[in-house]
Amino acid sequence: MNAQSRAPRRVTSKQYRPQKARRERLLAGIGEGVAVIPTATEKLRNRDTPYPYRFDSDFWYLTAFPEPDAVLVLVNGRALLFCREKDAEREVWEGFRYGPEAARAVFGFDAAFPLSALEAQLPRLLADKPALWHALGQDSENDARIARALNAVRDMSRAGVRPPALLHDLRQTLDAMRLIKDTTELALMQQAAEIAAAGHLRAMRACRPGRFEYELEAELSYEFRRRGAAGHAYTPIVAGGGNACVLHYVENDKRLPDGGLVLIDAGSEVCGYAADISRTFPVNGRFSAAQKDCYEIVLAAQAAAVAAIRPGASFDAPHVAAVRVLTQGMVDLRLLSGTVDGLVESGAYRRFYMHRTGHWLGLDVHDVGNYRQGETWIPLAPGMTLTVEPGLYIRPAPDVPKPLHDIGIRIEDDVIVTKRGCQVYTHAPRTVAEIEAVMQGRD
Ligand code: GLY
Ligand code: MN
Ligand code: MN
Repeated sequence: MNAQSRAPRRVTSKQYRPQKARRERLLAGIGEGVAVIPTATEKLRNRDTPYPYRFDSDFWYLTAFPEPDAVLVLVNGRALLFCREKDAEREVWEGFRYGPEAARAVFGFDAAFPLSALEAQLPRLLADKPALWHALGQDSENDARIARALNAVRDMSRAGVRPPALLHDLRQTLDAMRLIKDTTELALMQQAAEIAAAGHLRAMRACRPGRFEYELEAELSYEFRRRGAAGHAYTPIVAGGGNACVLHYVENDKRLPDGGLVLIDAGSEVCGYAADISRTFPVNGRFSAAQKDCYEIVLAAQAAAVAAIRPGASFDAPHVAAVRVLTQGMVDLRLLSGTVDGLVESGAYRRFYMHRTGHWLGLDVHDVGNYRQGETWIPLAPGMTLTVEPGLYIRPAPDVPKPLHDIGIRIEDDVIVTKRGCQVYTHAPRTVAEIEAVMQGRD
């Protein structure tokens, strides 16, 4: 059986209705204009060995077409795909390629062509169109291709043909679409969340003094892949003891300290969608009194932040709520002295909590979408997905009580804004009691 005859049986165009619906929405938005959306190019890791391929998120959102060397063009109410041709020889080495015909049929494009035809077709597609929609600066190869096409249209000016007079930033339109997730996206994000939570549970169960951070990373990777995720949605953080106070710690190569905490920030990727979960737990399975005090403060900050999420609330509301609880906690722990209002106002709390409480989540772990309109934070709306991730990071210092040294805690969950409020959809052990119960039950 050859690869081509297999293609239509792998998937049916019915599965790609959401992508078609998104293309139609975008087509309606661009009117008489033309949109050009390339996927990501393959990148070499070293010499002739590529990095694992990851498609461009915008292209994926509109197509679900997984191959590199592909460009989507939306024009005249139609979706055109330009992609690699079938190539029996290359397919022996690199695997199956759809080729234009199967790609059109399976993914529901109006027409599909070899990528090699794009250079010649693009000037004709742009000619006499009022506007071009393009993410300028995202992909230099595509920028150059578009510049060549515009120049080719300009060269036809004596024949009475004009290039588009307007250039729109396609990202602004697509970012706004991607900010509100549809039901297909929410289902995939929940799958990613389930798998990520299972990975965290596995890592908790595998943790004991003497093990190395990378051993827990391996448990996460194993569980993610075993359950069919593409892998990690971002480089995982497995940070024992004071390493947790380095916010982007990714070495994951130290021994886990007995009596210390370990912070894991890891999420799986499913069909392009990210989960983003952080959990912090005691390496030996039991929180010390000081660790527990700190942990309860972060947990309370998270609960306050979640309680602030509802349609119409500002994106900043969960952060404001978390900061107040954390700052009160810093006073209670004798890390800071003063009034909560004063410490929030002066920003003194930033010494121990220096990041924001969340971000949009979706195809990108730090997903697209505006956070502010001018000075005003944008209001939350149903279908938005965001993280809630308060933390406390206490580096050793003479003015810091000794039992608090090297405590770094983040508790991060993923949340959907619903019609009436919100839903936390990541379910890994979160409370002190839940974590200690899991860790006591280790083999
Ligand atoms: N894992 C990245 C973040 O929490 O923002
Ligand atoms: Mn996050
Ligand atoms: Mn995270």
